Amino acid sequence: MRILITGATSGIGRQLALDYHHDNHEVWALGRNQTALDELSSAGMQAVRLDLADRAATLDWFTAMTPIDLAILNAGSCEYIDLPDFDSALVSRVMRTNVESMAVCIEGVLPLLRQGVRPHLVAVGSSAAYLPLSRAEAYGASKAAIEYMIRTLRIDIFQENIDVSLVCPGFVKTPLTDRNEFSMPFRLSVEDASKRIRRGIDKRQLEIHFPKRFTFILKTLSMIPEALWVRISQRLVKHGE
Ligand SMILES: NC(=O)c1ccc[n+]([C@@H]2O[C@H](COP(=O)([O-])OP(=O)(O)OC[C@H]3O[C@@H](n4cnc5c(N)ncnc54)[C@H](OP(=O)(O)O)[C@@H]3O)[C@@H](O)[C@H]2O)c1
Repeated sequence: MRILITGATSGIGRQLALDYHHDNHEVWALGRNQTALDELSSAGMQAVRLDLADRAATLDWFTAMTPIDLAILNAGSCEYIDLPDFDSALVSRVMRTNVESMAVCIEGVLPLLRQGVRPHLVAVGSSAAYLPLSRAEAYGASKAAIEYMIRTLRIDIFQENIDVSLVCPGFVKTPLTDRNEFSMPFRLSVEDASKRIRRGIDKRQLEIHFPKRFTFILKTLSMIPEALWVRISQRLVKHGE
């Protein structure tokens, strides 16, 4: 397969790139960190330096690119809101990286997938989108936007025979979560996360969520009355102070 992976210079995306390359697929690994890109290139991958926040440069690159069978749109960032300051610039940054860059990549990659073999578009969201979580006003909203965009795209694109999957991980140990100072239940290794994502991709699952013991708890909590969830989470915030 010809596989394109964004955010391939770190964490989940890097591990996916290494694993697919190990399985003899042709991997196009995108990111900004030149040192990490050089390592991927030395390992035999096609490593491409691209800031996805640069819409024009990103679309130019996709226009010159050849067919893709599997696109994994994984690049993302996480920043938390710390009240009393509601930092709207932070919200813009997170939305630009997670939502707008994802949209630019979808615009760029769809024509390449249309020429691919059994094409499959995979977007990395988050289980954080299942319900409101403290301090995730920006990150959670960006992942909820991704979820809506991808689930809608899946409906509109089905006649083109392009499969669309949404990945909703729980906590995975990466540089992104290494910055978190709170406890992260059921946090998985990046190797484990990659295995679960690749298995879900092989089965062309609509939603690839893991670890199940964590995501089922979140999904269940998302069904309880809002007032109850608000009370539970306010108590968690109070005890976490
Ligand atoms: N780790 C978790 O627990 C977890 C849980 C749920 C969802 N996720 C999602 O999984 C994805 C990967 O997360 P991760 O934990 O592996 O994070 P990570 O280690 O911080 O990696 C993020 C990747 O995104 C790339 N990226 C960010 N902004 C970019 C931009 N403007 N242009 C190009 N590339 C950009 C980074 O590239 P450079 O480093 O080269 O700049 C890096 O390769 C994210 O979408 C995240 O929201 C992660």
